[in-house]
Amino acid sequence: MCGIVGYFGNREAAPLLVQGLSKLEYRGYDSAGVAIIENGDIKVTKCKGRLKNLENKLEENPIHGLVGIGHTRWATHGQPSDVNSHPHSNKTETISVVHNGIIENYLELREWLTSEGYEFKSQTDTEVIPNLVDYFYEGDLLKAVIKATEKMEGSYAIGVIAKNEPDKLVAVRKDSPLIVGLGKEESFVASDIPAVLAETRDVYLLNDKEFVILTKEGVKIVDANETEIKKDIYKVTWDADAAEKGGFEHFMLKEIHEQPKAVKDTMASRIAVGQPIKLDDINITKEQIQKLNKVYIVACGTAYYAGVVGKYAIEKLARIPVEVDIASEFKYRDPIIDENSLMIIVSQSGETADTLSALRLAKEKGARVIAVTNVVGSTASREADDILYTLAGPEIAVASTKAYLTQLTAMYIIALFFAEQKGTVSTEKLEEIKTEMLNLPDKVETALSCKEEVKALAEATKNEKDMFFLGRGVDYAVALEGALKLKEISYIHAEAYAAGELKHGPIALIEDGTVVIALGTQEELFDKMVSNVQEVVSRGAKVYAVAQMGHEEVKKTADSVVYVPKVMDLLAPIVAVIPLQLFSYYMAIAKGCDVDKPRNLAKSVTVE
Ligand code: G6P
Repeated sequence: MCGIVGYFGNREAAPLLVQGLSKLEYRGYDSAGVAIIENGDIKVTKCKGRLKNLENKLEENPIHGLVGIGHTRWATHGQPSDVNSHPHSNKTETISVVHNGIIENYLELREWLTSEGYEFKSQTDTEVIPNLVDYFYEGDLLKAVIKATEKMEGSYAIGVIAKNEPDKLVAVRKDSPLIVGLGKEESFVASDIPAVLAETRDVYLLNDKEFVILTKEGVKIVDANETEIKKDIYKVTWDADAAEKGGFEHFMLKEIHEQPKAVKDTMASRIAVGQPIKLDDINITKEQIQKLNKVYIVACGTAYYAGVVGKYAIEKLARIPVEVDIASEFKYRDPIIDENSLMIIVSQSGETADTLSALRLAKEKGARVIAVTNVVGSTASREADDILYTLAGPEIAVASTKAYLTQLTAMYIIALFFAEQKGTVSTEKLEEIKTEMLNLPDKVETALSCKEEVKALAEATKNEKDMFFLGRGVDYAVALEGALKLKEISYIHAEAYAAGELKHGPIALIEDGTVVIALGTQEELFDKMVSNVQEVVSRGAKVYAVAQMGHEEVKKTADSVVYVPKVMDLLAPIVAVIPLQLFSYYMAIAKGCDVDKPRNLAKSVTVE
């Protein structure tokens, strides 16, 4: 995730910006840069790679100045490269900008600005911002930034400096984090508190559309009408380590809480009610989609379980047969692939060796490949024909949570796109699904409120050695992911079963006190699921259920029930998995396990 830092004061800006950026490294990045006002001119130094590269460049060619902005970039639009790195400037280099977020209407803005004579060098969405500010600039940087933001759709935290106003730094946020650090005769802006913690513990926490102006007179905050806003100073009491995790105890918990935003970002600019699905990096044609005889979804681990949901979604909506394969098995079973097959590989990192081998095999056999990946410029994104980026931002905890939710979102987007192209679902139904999807971020937020209940449940079951996870339909796919999470971070043996299959063997293992987590979010299969739960209850199992709000009757059968918001059956995994993620998290805490770095596991597995 990109990180921004800005400095205004009476010390050299460069080392302070680099220091701030180094404290944002934990967010993940692929390039870094600074822009500083030196003798009335904006000087920019930026490059691909680690912060050390930037430091070396600054050592060779130092920039001296007291006002500046800095950035670490996590690529979303355009590959990691020197030219795509921030800060971005207008052609005459009178305005320079750092940005975290996504400008959703950047293509439109770019087209319009080009028609106004502006030129663009990079592939980024960000580059429209300095040009927009330039377009509106009439001698007042704040006014120009306010006008620019009126044109910008999407999410942003930006820091802006201007050659004509060398004693000023303007910043603003919308849906991306931004704080102000208050020092003695100096001030900072930053994406996150750790960036300023070495210099000050006094900060302002900004809300959306609050414009900050740093000058010699100090810090001023105004709204879009330039009316001043008074804010209370927030005194940071956390240590640096806790600050990196946004005050959460672990990255995993932080990332679980980032899920509403991650899902929203992944849908943004792709799904809109009344409009066709828009996928910039997918070029498969309508004719090619119509000819598809088979879709293979191939992945590993959590990404594989997202693929299992993808199968249900694509088959149900687009009526194309789908096979889901574990990547390490795919190659060795001599799969039947031809030019009318499509492979969708799902990979957070885009670097998993088994998944890449499957991709290469499909290409060898003439099939088209869509990569669903979280990392721009990853091997998967370079080798696939089409790409759908999940916009989860970097995931640091080894156990995947927010990447999984965005992979599910991507599966639904692809299914809707195919359905639209093939005409397999009525317009009314498509619109209903899109509307419901756009409501998912709020519902995920609501689902997160089960935290305390789930924590108590984990505490009560922490000495168990085995657990079963049961579900039907897409609930079965969620059960698989829930069991994997528990194994990964709390080292409890967990088995997921399709509930109807239980009586064909594993029910023999159910005895007095066996813990069963039962998922019952599928309206269509609800009664059947209740019967399956009764089968295990009558053999002594302790049943903890996850059900949609309103199903009070579940309380009669299960020992306890966690309720999640009501969502249409197909989309339910997005909310149903939340209690399971939290359950594994609190279980790991209760057992004293290393949550973010579980034993024997790696975030990215680059060997077969
Ligand atoms: C490892 C990670 C999992 C991840 C899997 C696939 O096993 O620990 O969290 O789901 O790899 O990784 P990918 O980057 O391809 O999604």
